[in-house]
Amino acid sequence: MPLDPFAMERWQSTYETEVAYNLSESGIMPVTLASLVDHSWIREVLARQALGYGHSRGSPELREAIAALYPDAPADQILVTSGTAEANFLVTWWLVEPDDEIVLMLPNYMQIHGLAQGFGGQIRAWWLQADKGWRPDIAALESLVGPRTKAIVVCNPNNPTGAVLTPEEMDAVVRAAGRVGAWIVADEVYHGAEILRDLTPTFWGRYERALVTCGLSKAYGLPGLRIGWILGPREAIDALWGRHDYTTIAPAHLSDMLARVALSPRVHSRLAQRARLTLQSNLGLLTAWVTEQEERVTWTPPEAGAIAMLRYRAPVNSTALAERLRTEQSVLVVPGDHFGLDGFIRVGYGMEATVLAEGLRRIGAVLAIL
Ligand SMILES: Cc1ncc(COP(=O)(O)O)c(C=O)c1O
Repeated sequence: MPLDPFAMERWQSTYETEVAYNLSESGIMPVTLASLVDHSWIREVLARQALGYGHSRGSPELREAIAALYPDAPADQILVTSGTAEANFLVTWWLVEPDDEIVLMLPNYMQIHGLAQGFGGQIRAWWLQADKGWRPDIAALESLVGPRTKAIVVCNPNNPTGAVLTPEEMDAVVRAAGRVGAWIVADEVYHGAEILRDLTPTFWGRYERALVTCGLSKAYGLPGLRIGWILGPREAIDALWGRHDYTTIAPAHLSDMLARVALSPRVHSRLAQRARLTLQSNLGLLTAWVTEQEERVTWTPPEAGAIAMLRYRAPVNSTALAERLRTEQSVLVVPGDHFGLDGFIRVGYGMEATVLAEGLRRIGAVLAIL
């Protein structure tokens, strides 16, 4: 199966450990093991745990805890995966057959885009509109969806823009899918990383053929656990579980245990509050910096996610700009080219404030001389 390189992940995998100021991350800075569990838990529970396979579709306790995040979700309609990345992989692998049409929200995390093309699907791009504050074009969606549409794929909250669909826009997606019996695949991994608004509504429960993917990597600050999940109709989840036998068999056993801790009510609310405080305070810093840049940088501030798309005025290609920031300033950002949007860079702001402030100062210094 020929696959296009996953440009953003290649870029991050290659350079993220080499730079001093990594502004390419999209989640809240990771928490430590010690802030999740105390020493007695580590000694009494973790240390005595046999390192067996664990439950292939996720432990019943973890699936119950995940189900509790959604209205009326049964635990047996959840499949726990190794990160949201595996969840997206399984869903795409299961759904997309040669010549299927896939209507895909853009810009987007390009995983499903690349995989769907690799599996022979035909992508029909549904763009969020940069000049309209990243709002979707509902009329365009209506004309893109037709009898050959197998799925409408959305990323909500959106990576890279931080935009969130309104309930009316979600209804329009459901109507378009329902008209032709298509699936809705909703990557909701930024759920819980809302900044100054309510939690993003989920596609779960709005449409019977919805497959929701999510995980602990972003709002929870736990990307290293590699815990994600898929929530959907029972037959679909059973079929996806069968595919999971071919990929990773089971989520890592220790990660399953720690994920249960993370989703226990007390820790969950502590992590949710940490996310909100970090996002609000760092967005203040980023907003002040954008204001200082005057017309050199413009944006629509994100509603969710620790990422913002910045449009810069300098006459330079975004990959060339990102390369220059990396080699001359030791700052890693994601070039807009990776999302098909030259003239933009994606900047993460979920890290320590000191790193963010210095990274931004260095970006500003380069933009000022271009
Ligand atoms: C929209 C989206 N989906 C999935 C992933 C992968 O997440 P995970 O670390 O849970 O595998 C990312 C990571 O950046 C993402 O932005």
